[in-house]
This record gives sequence, C-alpha cells and structure tokens, in this order.
Amino acid sequence: MFKNILCAVDGSDHSLRAAKAAAELAAQFNAKLTILAVTKQIKLSTEIRRYMEMEHLSGEPQYVLDDYTEQVIEGALEAADHDGVSNIKTVVKEGPPARTIVKYADRHDIDTIVLGSRGLGDIESALLGSVSHKVASLSKCTVVTVR
Ligand SMILES: Nc1ncnc2c1ncn2[C@@H]1O[C@H](COP(=O)(O)OP(=O)(O)OP(=O)(O)O)[C@@H](O)[C@H]1O
Ligand SMILES: [Mg+2]
Repeated sequence: MFKNILCAVDGSDHSLRAAKAAAELAAQFNAKLTILAVTKQIKLSTEIRRYMEMEHLSGEPQYVLDDYTEQVIEGALEAADHDGVSNIKTVVKEGPPARTIVKYADRHDIDTIVLGSRGLGDIESALLGSVSHKVASLSKCTVVTVR
C-alpha cells in the first residue's frame, strides 16, 4: 500500500488539496506519484485523424492539451512540489473522467487513488461529486477522498 499513488485533478481547490495530500503520502511512504487530468473527449473528423496519422500525431493526446489542462497540471505540481517528492509523473487522458481514472489505475498497478470530495461542479449541497462517487464504487484499489 502507498507505493504507487494516482492523484486525479480537475483544477478545483479540492483537487489541489488532493494533490497536496497525495504528495504528503508519497513523501512519507517514498512512493511514486502520478498526477492525472482527464479532458473531454474530442470527436475528430476522419480527415483530421488521417492528417494526424500522416504527421505521426496520433497516440497520446498531447495535441489536445489545451491551456486550461496545462494550468491544472501545473497547479497540481506546485501544490505537490513542497514535499520533495522526486518521482512525479504527469498524464493527460481523454474520456469519461471516472472510468478513465479507474482504467488508468488498473493498467498501471496503482495501489491508491487520491481525489477531492468535490470538484468544479456547482451543486453546493452535495458532499461528494459524481466522479469521486463513481471512482470509489468502480475502483479495486484504495481510494482516498480528500475533504
Ligand atoms: N476531469 C477530471 N480529471 C481528473 N480528475 C477529476 C476530474 N473530474 C473530477 N476529478 C477528481 O474528482 C474530484 C471530485 O470531483 P467531482 O467531479 O466528483 O465533483 P463535482 O465537480 O463537484 O461534481 P460533478 O462533476 O458531479 O458535478 C476532484 O476533486 C478531482 O480530484
Ligand atoms: Mg466534476
């Protein structure tokens, strides 16, 4: 436990707190830390896909890495930075957030997922957002929900 930690971030204050907590855990347990942001799925036309293939732009969706996502990752890295974790990896994936987070964890031998209890959504009364809820339900590994 606490050897390979995944922190999912959406740019919300909650997720920054999650990044901070994930970094503290990683520092304490000398764990690997991966910071993951999931972006919206972008439907591309056949022409654009073909062009990207020709230009070898397919594969990881770095090419859809927009300014906002870049800021989200930067913010999380900053929040995590102070704890002196040396082994931090950042990843951007596209797809439905909860399933994409759980799938990434499954495929990369993650033992602990850290996320915020809430995110960017604006249903103020809810204590738990739908992504946190779904990840906790679908994930086989430990999930830490940061308040
Ligand atoms: N697109 C995403 N990529 C990575 N992590 C995410 C993403 N969306 C949410 N999360 C993670 O899940 C946590 C909870 O966010 P969630 O989306 O469940 O709450 P919400 O936005 O308040 O509610 P909802 O989205 O259901 O309206 C965030 O703090 C973040 O850690
Ligand atoms: Mg949300």
